[in-house]
Amino acid sequence: MADLSTKYLGLNLKNPIIVGSSPLTATLDSLKKCEDAGVGAVVLKSIFEEQIEGESDAAVDDSQEYLVHADAYGFMKNSSKERAIDEHLTLLENAKKSLQIPVIASINCRENGSWIEYINRFIACGADAIELNHYIVAADRDVDGSAIEKNYLSLVKAARKKVSIPLSLKMGSSFSSLSNLLLKFDQLSIDGVVLFNRFYSPDIDTKNLSFTSAHMLSSEDEYAQSLRWTALMSEELRYDICASTGIYTGETVVKQLLAGAKAVQLCSALMKHGLTRVSKITAEVSSWMDAHEFTQISDFNGQLAQERIADPSRWERTQYMRTIMGGKKD
Ligand SMILES: Cc1cc2nc3c(=O)[nH]c(=O)nc-3n(C[C@H](O)[C@H](O)[C@H](O)COP(=O)(O)O)c2cc1C
Repeated sequence: MADLSTKYLGLNLKNPIIVGSSPLTATLDSLKKCEDAGVGAVVLKSIFEEQIEGESDAAVDDSQEYLVHADAYGFMKNSSKERAIDEHLTLLENAKKSLQIPVIASINCRENGSWIEYINRFIACGADAIELNHYIVAADRDVDGSAIEKNYLSLVKAARKKVSIPLSLKMGSSFSSLSNLLLKFDQLSIDGVVLFNRFYSPDIDTKNLSFTSAHMLSSEDEYAQSLRWTALMSEELRYDICASTGIYTGETVVKQLLAGAKAVQLCSALMKHGLTRVSKITAEVSSWMDAHEFTQISDFNGQLAQERIADPSRWERTQYMRTIMGGKKD
């Protein structure tokens, strides 16, 4: 019987399936269901600094108390913010008490935000690791690409100073030189990156000429971007890669492990098909390993990464040249 255990961020996981930060990891009840379904770890729904700030502003404004006690404005705002943070910390604390699997806390943060001040509270509540969830829509015409990369680097640097437990960054793929940036994270002693987050995207409702949200959930052919970058970088980095987006089947998990991922994160597949999908995936990985006579993941992990194959250019190819010219399909 194949052994599916793996090590990610220094944590021992019974298998490489992690439930990604999402509504599936937003309550204690759903977290317990994830554990019962057999996953290796969970990432809690992100705490959004912006939302907390916004909610505390709204709560204070709604109460209008400060019109009577104007000097109480700052105090009320702070205590409302504290309540929102406390709610999140309570979830983490309860999850740590109730679950046996590792619990990773996720923080959506801004470069100079106050998140850095409360990161220690997550650690005190027993988080097994911290996942930073950071994304900048590069829409500011005055900010060039290197400034955006610097923003990511200074965020990781500041977090690394504060975080003594394992630290990872969940990021998007839109960088002009992703491989260079990923190597720079290595110098900052990060423990892992999640490649890639899939973001909320606005769409247009042509019937009502209004805004709507684009497809919220991924589809199962969206894993290719993450697979390519995992394969390109996994052998060069000292930290772990966790693959994410479009992972629906055991076969895709096997592909990501062959490319060098240490673990994978799932969200859409479980939201669409339910948590029973977890045992289906682990059974598929297990029977593939049996068929190839692999007894543990390290037997084949990274076997098809760029550095380990005879023709490394295969992972860099971007054009369908031969197919267009009527040659061999490749
Ligand atoms: C409804 C919903 C809420 C999400 N919330 C978060 C979040 O709070 N933090 C985060 O890092 N990612 C969040 N994500 C992104 C997922 O964790 C995941 O990275 C993304 O959906 C791609 O993986 P998938 O193809 O398995 O869905 C959310 C995704 C969805 C669909």
